Amino acid sequence: MATEIEELLKKTIGLDSSSIGSVTVERSINRRMVQCGISEKHVYVALLKSSSLELQALIDEVTVPETWFFRGVEPFRLLAEYASMEWLKSNYGQVFRVLSVPCSSGEEPYSIAMVLMDVGFNKNQFHIDAVDISAKVIARAGQGFYGRNSFRGDEGDAVSRYFNVIEGGYRINDPVRESVQFRHGNLLDESFMTNEYAYDAIFCRNLLIYFDRPTQAKALMKLHGLMSEQGMLFVGHAESGCIDHDFFSLVRRTGTFCYRKVEKLKNKETIKTIYSNNMVGNNMDDGCIYKSDSSLFFRPNSISLQAAMPKVVNISKVEVVSDKKTIEDKDSEKLLKIAALLADQGNLTEAARLCDQHLANDPYSGAAYYLLGVVREAQGDSGSARELFHKTLYLDPKHYQALIHLAGHAERQGDLAAATIYRTRARRLSESE
Ligand SMILES: C[S@@+](CC[C@H](N)C(=O)[O-])C[C@H]1O[C@@H](n2cnc3c(N)ncnc32)[C@H](O)[C@@H]1O
Repeated sequence: MATEIEELLKKTIGLDSSSIGSVTVERSINRRMVQCGISEKHVYVALLKSSSLELQALIDEVTVPETWFFRGVEPFRLLAEYASMEWLKSNYGQVFRVLSVPCSSGEEPYSIAMVLMDVGFNKNQFHIDAVDISAKVIARAGQGFYGRNSFRGDEGDAVSRYFNVIEGGYRINDPVRESVQFRHGNLLDESFMTNEYAYDAIFCRNLLIYFDRPTQAKALMKLHGLMSEQGMLFVGHAESGCIDHDFFSLVRRTGTFCYRKVEKLKNKETIKTIYSNNMVGNNMDDGCIYKSDSSLFFRPNSISLQAAMPKVVNISKVEVVSDKKTIEDKDSEKLLKIAALLADQGNLTEAARLCDQHLANDPYSGAAYYLLGVVREAQGDSGSARELFHKTLYLDPKHYQALIHLAGHAERQGDLAAATIYRTRARRLSESE
């Protein structure tokens, strides 16, 4: 039964229970069951499935809200330098936009507000959105009241400048408090922040560690889509390993894991992300990908932008404005990138078609078998998915994600011995990396 709840948590918030341990998840479930006065697991599972309030309560219980002011310090210094020295030069008169997700109880976004004020921004010159999936921590964050545990030595003299001492702790001052907009939200939701303008900087620290690889990739693509062209992404120390360097390039700076958004893909393709409804694409060899609200579009060059326009307006998911255009060998790798983007956006049929096309050009592509496996899994075809993951491993015995997927399959079939073998292989791989 715990497994069923773990699956539900994974599907809803991306939590990979192995990241915090099944025992910890089980403890949270037990606490909730006691609170609800329920002693039988299946009764609790039924409640979880029927009550969004109880699901939220379990999420509040199971998530890890650990955070403090100026955690890690350097990322905040780098952000302040970037905003005041680089960004301001080319965006004078504009509003510097920052997203903090997850923001937990608010220490991170308030720290961002403080460093921006320190370098001379007034509260009308920047905008901070701060989002977390836990309703409990978001409610706390808005109050701006903190105890000693939120200060762990990274805050310098900020306490004397931005806080008022009150009984039992410290209250953040009004200008700082008013400069952060808190929201309850799930980074993995299709509609996450889709109506917002692009962000010049995103802090997404200490969340990706709780996701498995495919979920990390999905989250990162979402963040990529939310960033402005020169945007900066800050992740946690343990999270740099999951960054795809085709989409983000490392900013070399001791003490930070910061990345700039990359527009260029391998083979010199260009992805152009457009953040308004005035869609203007940048040419790739055979087309372009561009974005409007939550949607990504692929527009081949064979159709003019004008001609394509009526087909793409008001479509909420990925739309391939393409017919069965044959793409040649040299473009195969690009094709797979596009397939991955489409799969991330939920256009599984088109993603599968492009994977097949890629495999027709390169029948030994482990990456294509893997992606097709993920797509088949998402389509509910576990048998084909398993076969495809096996093919992936045959071609690439060090394919971490394929091992993890196969472990999951084996567990679901009750073959725990096989699952252990896959997981052990995966762990050895990640240790050797
Ligand atoms: C360890 S805190 C990180 C806070 C802050 N970024 C930091 O590094 O100090 C992790 C937070 O992630 C939130 N969280 C977990 N899954 C999430 C999701 N799918 N979307 C948004 N927030 C999520 C949890 O509620 C928790 O508050």
